[in-house]
Amino acid sequence: MRRIGVLTSGGDAPGMNAAIRAVVRKANYHGVEVYGIYHGYEGFIQGKMELLDLGSVGGIIQRGGTKLYSSRCAKFKEQKYQLQGIEKMKDAGIEGLIVIGGDGSFRGAYALADLGLKCIGVPATIDNDVPGTEYTIGFDTALNTVVNAVDKIRDTATSHENTFIIEVMGRHSGNIALWSGLAAGAESIIIPEEPYDIDEIIARIKRGEARRKKHSIIIVAEGVMPASELARMLKEKSGIDMRITVLGHIQRGGSPSAYDRVMASRFGAFAVELLLEGKTRRAVGIKNNQLYDYDLQEIFKTEQKNTSGLYTLSKELSI
Ligand code: F6P
Repeated sequence: MRRIGVLTSGGDAPGMNAAIRAVVRKANYHGVEVYGIYHGYEGFIQGKMELLDLGSVGGIIQRGGTKLYSSRCAKFKEQKYQLQGIEKMKDAGIEGLIVIGGDGSFRGAYALADLGLKCIGVPATIDNDVPGTEYTIGFDTALNTVVNAVDKIRDTATSHENTFIIEVMGRHSGNIALWSGLAAGAESIIIPEEPYDIDEIIARIKRGEARRKKHSIIIVAEGVMPASELARMLKEKSGIDMRITVLGHIQRGGSPSAYDRVMASRFGAFAVELLLEGKTRRAVGIKNNQLYDYDLQEIFKTEQKNTSGLYTLSKELSI
């Protein structure tokens, strides 16, 4: 293999730049050229690409976002656009593609691999919800962003003796809510994977008040309901006024943590190795700190991370 392509797709995640850098440097190390494809599958269809030399990925390991830009490209589900993009790749002499993104991006890579373009997926999304791998690039940085924000909100919640509901991202997954809630000592955590009980949340607040603790933090995953809706339900039953904060896209930005930089470097370099071994329709995964590759087909499994252990712990620690 003499020339490969790399693109970032879907919601951006801190560490994507570090992964691009690793792909370029590792491929160059093996004498393989890398073309950066801009704007995800949108640019793939149009053949919008540029040669990435060693210097072009200098000074990006610490930068959030993605140097290659990203997009959510709905029309890429149509085969005619997939074939159009594959033709552009053939014209440019690109023999393999590395797709850095979440499960939607992996579905695109799966389709391309079935149409004959060698494809490897690198999991990157703040949601940490890609089936087949324990970790996705960006999760750690997003968690730190959320925890920093919750710590700050707790300062003012304590001073004013308020109850705050903080809504975090995660799409259908509660990973960000659960991990950040545990790390920030939230009094209640509400995630899609576990049932919630409004009366129990109120009882928890009341128990705190009885101990003269007048503030509370509730973290709700966006996949359950909006913070405003939860505030309305709680107010209706308890009369307590809640303050709400929706953290929003701040969770997707920022300089990647050291952990995300290391994971992105490992994932990106491993993806190049897989292409050089002639593999296709595979994704990079990690379990117990061990990298491996798996069939992109696994993306179609509706696997949820096992949250029950951490969820139970969070309840035990916030009695
Ligand atoms: O998948 C990452 C993510 O940030 C989710 O947590 C969130 O639901 C979604 O993307 C938001 O996407 P957009 O910025 O396209 O609205």
